[in-house]
Amino acid sequence: MTMRIQPSILSADFVNFESEFKTISAADGIHVDVMDGHFVPNLTFGLGMVKRMQEITTLPLDVHLMIENPDQLAAQYAEGGVFSVTVHFEALTDPIATAKAIKSKGARAGLSIKPNTPVADIDDLIQHFDQILVMSVEPGFGGQAFMPSSIEKISTIRNLIDSRGLATWLQVDGGIDLVSIGQAASAGADTFVAGSSVFGSSDRNEMIRKLRVAAESAVSSS
Ligand code: DX5
Ligand code: ZN
Repeated sequence: MTMRIQPSILSADFVNFESEFKTISAADGIHVDVMDGHFVPNLTFGLGMVKRMQEITTLPLDVHLMIENPDQLAAQYAEGGVFSVTVHFEALTDPIATAKAIKSKGARAGLSIKPNTPVADIDDLIQHFDQILVMSVEPGFGGQAFMPSSIEKISTIRNLIDSRGLATWLQVDGGIDLVSIGQAASAGADTFVAGSSVFGSSDRNEMIRKLRVAAESAVSSS
């Protein structure tokens, strides 16, 4: 199984994104956290900034929308060549229409659930999305501890994906480090967002490679 590492720039220097991106060239993609100060109690940046980011890097941008009204706004974020746009189940009115709108702009569509949202709530929606994102911390801030309760959710979603013969990616975001990545990978995750563990490291590309190896080893030994 291919293990993908996507550093979250929530832990990067916000006034130096261009040089920050160059320090994570070993990544499979860049995870971009859009926060509106309403859906989550934190504010980052919006559409103009995301479009500019895609212009200055060839790495795929994985845009995580932690905003209200994603139905209205997701398609705009999907323009400009970003790789994927993920919306939160808790904020959506029409998940299937929003997935279609994202895909119609050429991006992959992702669906995310917060720690208190049960997997059963999205059971019927999985087939409409290209990737499912399990939040393993309460969204809003970097540097929080990985919640062990997310392991069972990852495992349940992995079984749903495999039993239906889907190729859906299973992503986990929050508290991913060299220990928790192994637990998440063993449970069935294949795509890992890591903020503070990568950007807090003195050699970020080396940390990205170590995380990838840790995920791959956990799967091959389980
Ligand atoms: C949290 C964000 C995460 C965050 C992860 O709401 O969605 O992407 O940057 O940061 P770490 O890896 O430090 O938990
Ligand atoms: Zn995120």
